[in-house]
Amino acid sequence: MGKRLNITEEQKKELLQEIKTHMKLPGPLMPILHEAQRIFGCIPVEVQKIVSENTDIPIAEINGVVTFYSSFTLDPKGDHVIGVCLGTPCYVRGAQTILDAVKVELGIDVGQTTPDGLFTLDAIRCIGTCGMAPVMSFDEEVIGEINVTKAKKLIKDFRSRTWHYKKF
Ligand code: FES
Repeated sequence: MGKRLNITEEQKKELLQEIKTHMKLPGPLMPILHEAQRIFGCIPVEVQKIVSENTDIPIAEINGVVTFYSSFTLDPKGDHVIGVCLGTPCYVRGAQTILDAVKVELGIDVGQTTPDGLFTLDAIRCIGTCGMAPVMSFDEEVIGEINVTKAKKLIKDFRSRTWHYKKF
């Protein structure tokens, strides 16, 4: 699965500081996890352990919260994020079929990262370009009027572009 998270001393120090601050307030777990998500970009088990050891909240409880709320993610994201918009205007123009094809093309499900750590697939909400629905995003770039064939071609192009960047 995807990539492993490298926890730096600096990040750990920042998290411990946040834990210290929030433990003085009621209901500290959610704000601590929000800070953890901000600091690391995800909350894998290694991070949950640090939170558990420094709050005395059982790791099972922390894991339950992390996996329940979609604003928290367990795995680090890939180098590039490919998004398929599932907002209503995109949806009614076939976004689900496109998403299904993209899943097959990448060999991963929504929220997962390819084993080479290159791509993460996201189902995204309306990004305000419904005029060209259905829409996909490749990192910051938004491309509209997608169909299955176009989506597959874009992924292939994007893959060769990103490999190109990696190699040279
Ligand atoms: S619903 Fe997809 S861009 Fe608005």
